[in-house]
Amino acid sequence: MTQKGLSGFFEKFIDEKTLFLNKKALQSTYMPEAILHREEQINQIAKILAPALKNEKPSNVFMYGKTGTGKTLTIKYVSQQLTEVAMKRKIPLKIIYLNCKLKKIADTEYRLVAQLIKEFGSEVPATGLPTDEVYNIFLRLIDAAPLNVILVLDEIDQLVYKAGDEIIYNLTRINSELKNTQITFVGISNSLVFTENMDPRVKSSLSQEEIIFPPYNAVQLQDILKKRAELAFKEGSIDSGVIQKCAAFAAREHGDARRALDLLRVAGELAERESAKNLAISHLDEAEEKIEKERIIEIIKTQPKQSQATLYSMLLLMKKADDQIYTGDVYDLYKDLCTKTDLRPLTQRRISDIIAELDMLGIITTHVVSKGRYGRTKEMTLGIPFYIQPKVKDILTQELGLKQ
Ligand SMILES: Nc1ncnc2c1ncn2[C@@H]1O[C@H](COP(=O)(O)OP(=O)(O)OP(=O)(O)O)[C@@H](O)[C@H]1O
Ligand SMILES: [Mg+2]
Repeated sequence: MTQKGLSGFFEKFIDEKTLFLNKKALQSTYMPEAILHREEQINQIAKILAPALKNEKPSNVFMYGKTGTGKTLTIKYVSQQLTEVAMKRKIPLKIIYLNCKLKKIADTEYRLVAQLIKEFGSEVPATGLPTDEVYNIFLRLIDAAPLNVILVLDEIDQLVYKAGDEIIYNLTRINSELKNTQITFVGISNSLVFTENMDPRVKSSLSQEEIIFPPYNAVQLQDILKKRAELAFKEGSIDSGVIQKCAAFAAREHGDARRALDLLRVAGELAERESAKNLAISHLDEAEEKIEKERIIEIIKTQPKQSQATLYSMLLLMKKADDQIYTGDVYDLYKDLCTKTDLRPLTQRRISDIIAELDMLGIITTHVVSKGRYGRTKEMTLGIPFYIQPKVKDILTQELGLKQ
């Protein structure tokens, strides 16, 4: 584009018709008016938390479900409704929502309690006080007058991961020190494993009630997508079959509504970029490739060096899409690579563990095969689509400091 042409391009861009009516309706922060296919969970939570409106203490709840199954959306919706009624009836109820993934909030026990103090309009220094004292300040603040507090700890597994599970123990014990106020905990997680490793007493106190969010099936995803697409796109701008295929894509691994909505948004953006009149299936396919590529690259970039070296060895061994490779061969190449990159070579056993981790991430697929009297070995295929492999190789070459 010449420099003169650029202003023309921008002018044209402004005048171009857009497919979107309201793109925000596809963003993950958008609060839809209707939450489809979650009536059961909404009712369960409502019943558990309702006693707070009668100054009784509700049971603690633990909500579990895979990513994109509507946990955050549902708790925000129920909280909103509950707060409205409490305000109307002048009932002393305060719901605090914290996302434990956010660094500033829940890196340490100190930070979490400091954040809670902030929620009550007060403040403590960012560091420096003993944690006990911060707890005491918090207790005095909330116990000043009778109050029902519901504390929602979203992505609570992150909190436990960063600050240890003692923090949950300390939090759930707060009630025994309060005279006027009571706190109810709502923990939300997409990892079930994390409660399995917990101290049984902590676990049972956190999950007096449990609510499961199953993945959506393809038909449910279609309903969700249709509703959002009506708001997001102009009428008649989506080809038939697009919503169905989008739902099918998202339901393939597990029914993740976020993934489905992202897919539709990216497909819409791609269609718009090429000034298409309609969002077609081809845009959806393109969007799926783009998102998958970004997902895989993100995973690979954040792997530890040992894992990157293992994967690089596997890539070198794979010449064709359906080539099978074996652990022993991967290990030989990996050792070579270690000498070239100053990595400390791990044992073959550890490399097997790393391979299992890569399998869990969906980067490779492994299956054990019997080799008759030679015993059993692992056969592996790469889960990285062929068109992304050169890019992955480039990234690994760079990350491992190898010569191009
Ligand atoms: N039943 C539904 N109806 C409409 N939109 C939904 C529904 N379920 C999920 N969504 C949308 O899908 C996206 C993901 O939902 P949400 O953030 O609640 O998932 P989550 O279970 O909290 O996932 P994670 O474990 O990753 O935090 C949001 O944009 C949300 O608006
Ligand atoms: Mg969530």
